[in-house]
Amino acid sequence: MTTMTRPAVLPPGPTAPRAVQGAYALTQPLRGMRRLKERYGDAFTVNVPIFGNAVVISGAAEIKQLFTSGPELVDNLEVNLGRVLGSRSMFALSGDEHKRQRKLLVPPFHGRRLAAYEKIVEEETARELASWPEGKAFATLPSMMRITLNAILRAVFGAEGAEFAELRELLPPFVTLGSRLAVLPIPKKGRFNPWRRFERMRREYDAIVDRLIIKARDEPKDDVLSMLLQTRYDDGSGLSREEISDQLLTLLTAGHETTATTLAWAVERLRRHPALLAELQDDDGKLLDATILEVQRTRPVIDLTARQVKQDGFRLGRWTLPKGYAVLVSIALIHDDDAVFPHAAAFDPHRFAGARPDLSQWIPFGGGTRRCLGAAFATMEMTVVLRTLLRDFTLVPTSEPGERWHSRGVAYAPAKGGRVIVRRRTTGGDS
Ligand code: HEM
Repeated sequence: MTTMTRPAVLPPGPTAPRAVQGAYALTQPLRGMRRLKERYGDAFTVNVPIFGNAVVISGAAEIKQLFTSGPELVDNLEVNLGRVLGSRSMFALSGDEHKRQRKLLVPPFHGRRLAAYEKIVEEETARELASWPEGKAFATLPSMMRITLNAILRAVFGAEGAEFAELRELLPPFVTLGSRLAVLPIPKKGRFNPWRRFERMRREYDAIVDRLIIKARDEPKDDVLSMLLQTRYDDGSGLSREEISDQLLTLLTAGHETTATTLAWAVERLRRHPALLAELQDDDGKLLDATILEVQRTRPVIDLTARQVKQDGFRLGRWTLPKGYAVLVSIALIHDDDAVFPHAAAFDPHRFAGARPDLSQWIPFGGGTRRCLGAAFATMEMTVVLRTLLRDFTLVPTSEPGERWHSRGVAYAPAKGGRVIVRRRTTGGDS
């Protein structure tokens, strides 16, 4: 370990005051980043509200180095969704506590466990697609939001009956309010402040989770909650009620809107690529896998992931960063870089055909010790939904311009919700 402090060497960046840079970041998040990259290159320094002093990186080498640096050097950014998801949330934890908790949360999302959840996603997809109108334009995002919400409630919370119905009502507005409160400087004082509503909803949520815990203890099933109740830390102790409650809410918040918006983007992209739609008719699954990778490359629904420097003199590529600085990894910028992905602006799933992406360049799920815990679950879910959709419906192509990005709070969605016109296929075709 070295205690010697190296002088800071920061990348260049705009010198406008924080409020001005903040206003720019808020109104032009994606275009603004592109402009800054054109002007300053792969790495630049910004000063914005919420993150404060931050270095934005988008070069593969720096990203790889950041993702593989230990938590003593860079770790969780303090200001994030963890502020509203609870003190035990994965987003709120750092260092050993994060590692300890992650060890228990990873197994329910791996390998053979996913097969059990696949059936749930199939059922929820079939239920939702049954009501799709033919020949009429509509936005697919609300359908995708229902499928991914129901899938998480059943597969992760193990909810059915009354608890399922109550959580379906409560969670969407609760998460929307929470994602706003996480980033807006609203004081907790005063009679009409939104935190009161948020706290009331949290109490309701905790009461429902308590009922689910009792049921899962009485009769464990295949869901994540049942597994979490059985799992043990190395010292033999189990997860506390508070930990379970915070983690379930974290999984829902992290996994619901992200997966749904990616699916809506998939529909938006596919309708604008009729040749690909035709090719997918005879697909053995490989082209669909590549299509999902390409949707996530060209339309990453989370544009940034962040870390905070924990030790003075942290070396990152050519730069030396002071303690306390945020490092923002621009997922959108590296995905958009022609040097990394030739003809990056083109939507071409064939670039991934037969090849697994390099996970320090293709990073819609982030990377390293904090990489998305639900990546395999999300991929399974998106595969099942799109496979079913393409089997049962023809998507009518369109020559309309691509939909714009729209920030929903947690993730970026297509601004018109991934509008579609479909025709139901009369012959099966899934033999
Ligand atoms: C397409 C869908 C999804 C996308 C694009 C996505 C993206 C991300 C990203 C960018 C991160 C931050 C990673 C980092 O900082 O390096 C993350 C973290 C996380 N995601 Fe996802 N996610 C998706 C679906 C899911 C699902 C379905 C779940 C669970 C049901 C989930 C659970 C989590 C959790 C718990 C974390 C925090 C991990 C940690 O701190 O160790 N995500 N996700």
